[in-house]
Amino acid sequence: MSENPDPFVNRTEDTPAVTPGVLLNATWQCPSNIAIIKYWGKKNGQFPANPSLSMTLDQAYTQTKVSVVPGDKGNGLLSLNGDADHPFLPKMRHLLNCIREEVSALRGVSLEAHTANNFPHSTGIASSASGIGAFALCLVDLGYQLAGETPRRNDFMSAASRFARMGSGSACRSLYSGFTVWGATPWITGSSDEYAIPAPGLIHPEMMQIKDAILVISTKPKELPSSGGHQLMKGHPFLGGRILQADKNLEEALSALVENDFEKLGNIAENEALTLHALIMSAIPGTILLKPSTLEVIHLIRETRHAGIPVFFTLDAGANVHVLYPGHSAQMVEKFIGDALQPFCENGLVIYDHCGSGPMKVNGNQPPG
Ligand code: DP6
Repeated sequence: MSENPDPFVNRTEDTPAVTPGVLLNATWQCPSNIAIIKYWGKKNGQFPANPSLSMTLDQAYTQTKVSVVPGDKGNGLLSLNGDADHPFLPKMRHLLNCIREEVSALRGVSLEAHTANNFPHSTGIASSASGIGAFALCLVDLGYQLAGETPRRNDFMSAASRFARMGSGSACRSLYSGFTVWGATPWITGSSDEYAIPAPGLIHPEMMQIKDAILVISTKPKELPSSGGHQLMKGHPFLGGRILQADKNLEEALSALVENDFEKLGNIAENEALTLHALIMSAIPGTILLKPSTLEVIHLIRETRHAGIPVFFTLDAGANVHVLYPGHSAQMVEKFIGDALQPFCENGLVIYDHCGSGPMKVNGNQPPG
């Protein structure tokens, strides 16, 4: 065991501890996540204005392989999927530079990355969460490999979560199974603005079976990128109230997870989704991201729930709808989705997902995709 419990902090060596000529690589699969308590608004750079809670997904993931390649020392990330001008490269290079400031072992190398999502783009699934999460995991893995250190799992995951957060806030929550909290909150021991942690408390096993059917109402690119939306929360007249609301909703959502109270959790998820869009609409300038079909679907979900079927919705900053329901009601709810909701989706596209078990290292290190 290393004397320094976190080899990513205060490393001063300039040369990677690796046998010359031996090239390394790391392949990780990282899922996306859906926020139940929304992160909306930042403070002091890349820190959240309020704490958030998410459910890690299972079927919507990115697999990424990052390889150390021969080349002039320190050239950084040369290409993505063989393309030296890939549009995602600036975001990935920014993240690599953030990590290199702390992980000297990564300074002296040239890298290339290959990545693939197993879900279509522009479906309202946060591909930046899974993509940045997978990339951060690969870089942290390579950092430890290059330093010749074997990390403890907790140190590894919190380092990956912290670096993922620097690339995209919501990505830091994709690093754990089940439910994840990001944001310092006095009453949650270990919570931090720097990185996410697994949701505290003994989450009821039935809550780990929650399903999420993603109704793809529109595949058009979002009119308001999240980064712009976060900016608009600066000076937003409802910001103070929003922070108080998120904290209260978080406390109640966590107790619902422990008490297996799906209805309570679902009501909070809907309240958060509608708040997110209310904040987006009431910002200056205001944006309406909801489409007529989004509203039709929301009304149908609520009517069906009033008829006794346990089904709720949440939304990201877009028109698509995440339908939440307990695993034990899947047959009934999925029939309702197929009969009543699917016709509102673009090309009938519904992606069925569920609460997932978090990222994993891919053995064999074959290129993904
Ligand atoms: C509406 O994580 O995409 O999905 O930190 O600027 O990359 P950046 O923002 P991002 O914001 C996600 C906002 C959200 C809600 C959420 O996932 O909590």
